[in-house]
Amino acid sequence: MKQSSILKTALLTCGLVFTTASFAGSGPSGAMLGNTCAGCHGTNGVSNGPATPSIAGLDYDYFVEAMNEFKEDKRNTTIMARIAKGYSEAEIEAMSKFFADKEYVKANQTADAAAAKRGAKLHKKYCKNCHGDTGISEDQDDDSGMLAGQWKPYMTYTMADYKSGKREYGKKMGKKIKKLQKDVGDKGFADLLEYYASQK
Ligand code: HEC
Ligand code: HEC
Repeated sequence: MKQSSILKTALLTCGLVFTTASFAGSGPSGAMLGNTCAGCHGTNGVSNGPATPSIAGLDYDYFVEAMNEFKEDKRNTTIMARIAKGYSEAEIEAMSKFFADKEYVKANQTADAAAAKRGAKLHKKYCKNCHGDTGISEDQDDDSGMLAGQWKPYMTYTMADYKSGKREYGKKMGKKIKKLQKDVGDKGFADLLEYYASQK
């Protein structure tokens, strides 16, 4: 190796070490980063806007995966693809930890009681295995998001994205969705959404 390239290598290595160290040491905290999301997702991730999901209390792995799907344009979005691209892996992890520690608050919204009752039965039959007894992330092992108490308009767009293929199904969810569609049709999905919205 020539003298000049040794010097270059040394400088490069030095630069790298320096960047990594300064990043780990004094990078913005999860709280600082997370607070910038409040304009849309509400204080501490509890959303007041029906088209924007609450992100408080989301499972850590689910959160990281969602952000990476947004970043890599693998999940249909109105806005999050642009936002997620601005964050490094370490920053996403810091925010995931910040929000995972926050308390999930179910949205205050109305629901049709009779439809919700039918929806509860459908949930048990088609969705419970992966989404827990009532559709709350922390009640099950899979990292599958929050359905109970999530905003109905957001859930409506999300289900439409899955059904039209704009969002890929996680694992074996597609099979159950197709079965539900075949067994009870669109009305079944509407009942399910009333059930999730009815949970206070
Ligand atoms: C301009 C409004 C806006 C801002 C700012 C915003 N979000 Fe979002 N977020 C949305 C919307 C709307 C969705 C639903 C997906 C979409 O349409 O993009 C969403 C979805 C998400 C989801 C998926 C939730 C789920 O249940 O699957 C996560 C995670 C998320 N945002 C994290 C963040 C983080 C972290 C920040 C701050 C760095 C942030 N968002 C800033 C509007 C916003
Ligand atoms: C085999 C497991 C499995 C079954 C059964 C299942 N899901 Fe899922 N679901 C997942 C996983 C894993 C995710 C995480 C996101 C992804 O990978 O798309 C998810 C995500 C979701 C989301 C997105 C949540 C968000 O915040 O964006 C909705 C809505 C949903 N499922 C609804 C349903 C409904 C309704 C049923 C029953 C008809 C169902 N799922 C059955 C595994 C499952």
